[in-house]
Amino acid sequence: ADTNDLAAVESKLASFQPGCLLMETISNPLLRVGDLPALARLCRQAGAALIVDNTFSTPLLARPLEHGADISLHSSTKYLSGHGDTLGGLITATAEHFETMRRLSRINGPVLAPMECYLTMRGIKTFALRMERQCENARVLAAWLRTHPAIERVYYPDDPSHPDAAVIARLLPPGLYGGMVSFEVAGAGKREIFRFLDSLQMIVRATSLGDVHTMALYPWISSHRDVSPALKAEMGIRENLVRLSAGIEHVDDIKEDLARALRAL
Ligand SMILES: Cc1ncc(COP(=O)(O)O)c(C=O)c1O
Repeated sequence: ADTNDLAAVESKLASFQPGCLLMETISNPLLRVGDLPALARLCRQAGAALIVDNTFSTPLLARPLEHGADISLHSSTKYLSGHGDTLGGLITATAEHFETMRRLSRINGPVLAPMECYLTMRGIKTFALRMERQCENARVLAAWLRTHPAIERVYYPDDPSHPDAAVIARLLPPGLYGGMVSFEVAGAGKREIFRFLDSLQMIVRATSLGDVHTMALYPWISSHRDVSPALKAEMGIRENLVRLSAGIEHVDDIKEDLARALRAL
């Protein structure tokens, strides 16, 4: 179900009676923001647990358990460790679900090695500083991209005309809208997007996010490659869409790299 359509969620919960609803706080790659308190209420009424992937928003922007979620999870590979040098995941859960999570982790054995723990814990020490800079860089880049003649459309949650603007105003702290920006390059197909990505000199092309370096990803051939063309069209994932994870570099350097690559089109 589209978690931005509460009536559709309510009807799916009633017809399928699932054990859980899994969603992201800020969705990939179009950066939609679901109404967590309302979804938590619907899940509670239907007897389903609400599981929220909080990787994009991080605990600096949202703490889903405070909004009624049962379980919140993070890929700590991303913003929390922050340097692209370790893989890991974190789960927080209400007391009701905590023992189940512990039991599953004992049985399935997802235990981080000491070096991974060390890198994650060291990364977390600078997490808030990095994230504040990444949010600010993303905000400045989104504003700049909106004025660029080669850009058709920009997706960023600070937009007053964002379809979830009212939820964003309630859920996210003022000025902190995340480090992810997505944009559509006017008239571009796969060939032009490849040329754009190949022309980047500083921005890293990578299927990841949340690193100190700015990273670009092409959803059409990476995160959404297995999604059928019809479903991609329904989801609004277009062939000219690029996803950017803002890093902590000087924002002018990021702009310069993007401008050069857009000139190469
Ligand atoms: C929102 C989100 N959740 C979870 C994951 C999975 O992360 P990991 O590769 O650390 O297992 C990713 C990876 O890209 C992600 O973007």
